[in-house]
Amino acid sequence: MRLACLADGPVLPADKKPHKFNEMKRIFLGIESSCDDTSAAVVTEDAQILSNVVVGQVELHASFGGVVPEIAARAHAEKLDVAVKAALEQAEVSLADLSGIAVTAGPGLIGGVIRGVTLAHGLSAGSGLPLIGVNHLAGHALTPRLTHGVEFPYLMLLVSGGHCQLLIVRGPDNFQRLGGTIDDAPGEAFDKSARLLGLQQPGGPAVEEAAKGGDAKRFDFPRPLLDKPGCNMSFSGLKTALRRERDNLVEAKGGLTVSDRQDLCAGFQAAVADVLVEKTRRALEIFGADHAGTLTVAVAGGVAANSEIRSGLLDMASEFGAEFVAPPLALCTDNAAMIAWAGIELDRIGHAGLQPLFARPRWPLDASQPSLLGSGKKGAKA
Ligand code: KG4
Ligand code: ZN
Repeated sequence: MRLACLADGPVLPADKKPHKFNEMKRIFLGIESSCDDTSAAVVTEDAQILSNVVVGQVELHASFGGVVPEIAARAHAEKLDVAVKAALEQAEVSLADLSGIAVTAGPGLIGGVIRGVTLAHGLSAGSGLPLIGVNHLAGHALTPRLTHGVEFPYLMLLVSGGHCQLLIVRGPDNFQRLGGTIDDAPGEAFDKSARLLGLQQPGGPAVEEAAKGGDAKRFDFPRPLLDKPGCNMSFSGLKTALRRERDNLVEAKGGLTVSDRQDLCAGFQAAVADVLVEKTRRALEIFGADHAGTLTVAVAGGVAANSEIRSGLLDMASEFGAEFVAPPLALCTDNAAMIAWAGIELDRIGHAGLQPLFARPRWPLDASQPSLLGSGKKGAKA
């Protein structure tokens, strides 16, 4: 007996495939497992999210102070098929109703990415559905088209726990990177700062909450790289500055009061917001110089949940007369709906089956730009 493989085409006989949707419009299953969320979703070409199941792993990693790759990979292995089944059930479709499968093929924690890609290969081989490997960052960057129907080109600030990039998004596979972080991502800086202050993980929401009652001006936090031209950013020095202020307080008083913590959080958050807003302003100037008509600036990634950062970006965009788009929070953080949607966008321009699909720990969106974070045997990091 021969095993079905991709090249054999559909395994189900044609008369068993009702194809409820796929003759009318594309409908894709998306699979995401690149960090600590196991997710599966079903999305249609006309931007309906029929399901978006996200199984988080926060409690599995909580006692380690960060995501442990091997624990994440095992949890994905346990939950991926469950998430896919739930996503199909919630969407009230079967594999036979789909037009394709999109899976995050990188960049990310390689154990998790391999689990997702392996499952997607199996589903594709068993169903004959075309398979598209999606860059996780492209999934985030294309989200404003899913949620707001934004037209190309637009400026995207992608800010998450692992990434920070300013991109001109010109097409589903066409990204121009204007700048990015040269060290920590902003979410990573929030998480590390929260840890320094004994706040819970993920650190971003905890720092934002503590900052509410704080005085942002009490401590003099730096605005790294604002004195340098261009759109590159740096956040690791900010976390070090916070550690220094914390140590000074502990040495002077033997500990931190509630208001010390609030002031440190408020000062840190204001510094991150200032850097992100100013660098996005510069990127908008560059984008505007070769683009006639209304400019759109969009934000995505978990840090986009931060209301001080959102409102700073909104104010800056309105000074420019630019439109500001912020997808709903559930679609800013990691999810498979964005991967399904990116698959649909790539399928429209003929990507299905174009490249061999394999898991990639590193996968820069704009390969024409030099690496910001160095490179190694596995290629440029970002
Ligand atoms: O995009 P995401 O869900 O996962 C990836 O990193 O890919 O982003 C998670 C990051 C974490 O570092 C978390 O601390 C940060 O987003 N975050 C926030 C807020 N909510 C989540 N950072 C600042 N303020 C927030 N309200
Ligand atoms: Zn992400």
